[in-house]
This record gives sequence, C-alpha cells and structure tokens, in this order.
Amino acid sequence: MKIKIVNGMKRNLKTVLVLIGLGIIFLVTCKHNPNDIPTPISPGGNGNGNGNVKDSVCFAEEVLPLLISNCAKAGCHDATSHQEGVNLTSYGNVMATISGSNLINSITGNGQDIMPPANSPPPLTGAQISLIQTWVNQGMQNGIDCQCNIDTNNVTFNGVILPIFQTNCLGCHNTTLPILTNYSFIKYQLDTGRLYNAMNHIGGVVPMPLNGPQLSVCRLTAFNKWVNAGAPNN
Ligand code: HEC
Repeated sequence: MKIKIVNGMKRNLKTVLVLIGLGIIFLVTCKHNPNDIPTPISPGGNGNGNGNVKDSVCFAEEVLPLLISNCAKAGCHDATSHQEGVNLTSYGNVMATISGSNLINSITGNGQDIMPPANSPPPLTGAQISLIQTWVNQGMQNGIDCQCNIDTNNVTFNGVILPIFQTNCLGCHNTTLPILTNYSFIKYQLDTGRLYNAMNHIGGVVPMPLNGPQLSVCRLTAFNKWVNAGAPNN
C-alpha cells in the first residue's frame, strides 16, 4: 500500500516531535492511569476502512457504512423505524439521536442488549468496534482523515477488496442473498455481471450499497481495476 507523503510527512514529523515532547512531560508528571484514552500510535490514517486503529477515523468512509449495513435497516434504525428514537442513516441523524457512550454500550452489550441483536447480523468484529470507539474518543467528528490512500495500481483481494466488502456490504450480505462473505461467493456474483453493475449503479440492477451512498471514487476505481485484472484471488 502506498502512503501519500509530502505534506503528510511534514505533518507527521511535527506530530512525532509533539508526541515525544508530550511523552516526556507525561513521564515526568503522571502516573499511568489504565482508564486513559490511549495516545494514537500511528499518525496519518491508512483510510482503507479495515479497522486499523489510527490517529483519526473518517466517519463517512469507515463508520457510516458499518452503521448503514448493520444498524440502519428496515425495522431497526433507519429513518422510518428509528427504534428507541435512534436513527443511524447519516452523520446529522447519528449526532441528533445517540450519544457516544450509548453507541459504544450498545455495540459492546455493556449494560444493555447487544446490537445488532441476536436474530440479525452477527455482532461487529473487535476491529470494527475499536474503530467506532476510536471515532467516539476523538469527539465523533465528521470529515477528517478521509483521504483515500489505497494504491489503485496495486489492488489485492485480501488487502483491499475484502475489507471494502466487510465495511460496506457484509452487515447485510452476511445473511441477505447474495452472500458475499468470501472470494468464492464474490467471484460467483461477479461472473453473473450483476455485482459489477450493482457497484457501478448501471444495468438496471438494484444499486448498492442499499440505503447508502455509492462507494467513493477511490474504492470504486480499486474494485473496477481488480475486476478488469481478472478478479485474482490474491
Ligand atoms: C442495508 C443492506 C444492504 C447493504 C449495505 C448492501 N446490500 Fe446488496 N442487497 C441488499 C438487499 C436487500 C438486496 C436485494 C434487493 C432486491 O432484490 O430488491 C441486495 C441485492 C444485492 C445484489 C443483487 C442485485 C440484483 O439486482 O441482482 C448485489 C450484487 C448486491 N446486493 C451487492 C452489494 C454490495 C457489493 C454491497 C456493498 C458495496 C451491498 N450489496 C450492500 C441489501 C444490502
């Protein structure tokens, strides 16, 4: 994966120096408190939505797709049903209808029923929960660290494509047909032509992701290049 440099490196260098300074102050003045929010360890996000903990989380690309595919479904937390008043279809609705601590308590089952409930998609993975936790810890911001650093000239199935499906599709297509949880299922749907059309919003198939915006240009380009390269299982 290629990392965008120039400005990013200058910023990273500054960040590292500031972190070293803060670290010294911390060591001199504080005892370790296990409840402290951990200091981000890797300045500069990778933006690929695969759940790596990083300095900041892009709400639109990494958190909203998880909420849309796992929570904002018909009968659950979409605009029509908004169970318990919680509507998780957009940034504004998330901010207006749930607090960060309620969100975290729900997805971890801490003191309340775990979400998603047992009869719907499987629980979020540990990596997905920690990504949302990081976003909450950082003040539930919108529009930060959304630069897409996928190298669209070097797209592998396991490194790029599967994480895109995990973030954007599997909350539904773990259980909703067509199942898209692994290479074989994905390849099978590709061979019908409908998966490519659904992603690209062409050809009269239902546009995907359902209820959400189309994938960002960068992710869609990566997907299309991978398909055009013969959809290798790499
Ligand atoms: C919120 C749930 C949800 C999300 C998120 C979602 N899908 Fe779907 N998808 C559905 C449902 C429901 C259908 C069946 C639609 C229908 O037949 O009307 C479907 C149908 C499809 C189909 C068949 C379309 C056709 O007309 O033959 C494909 C392919 C597909 N989805 C791919 C994806 C991909 C790829 C993603 C992620 C980028 C995705 N979906 C995200 C719920 C979802």
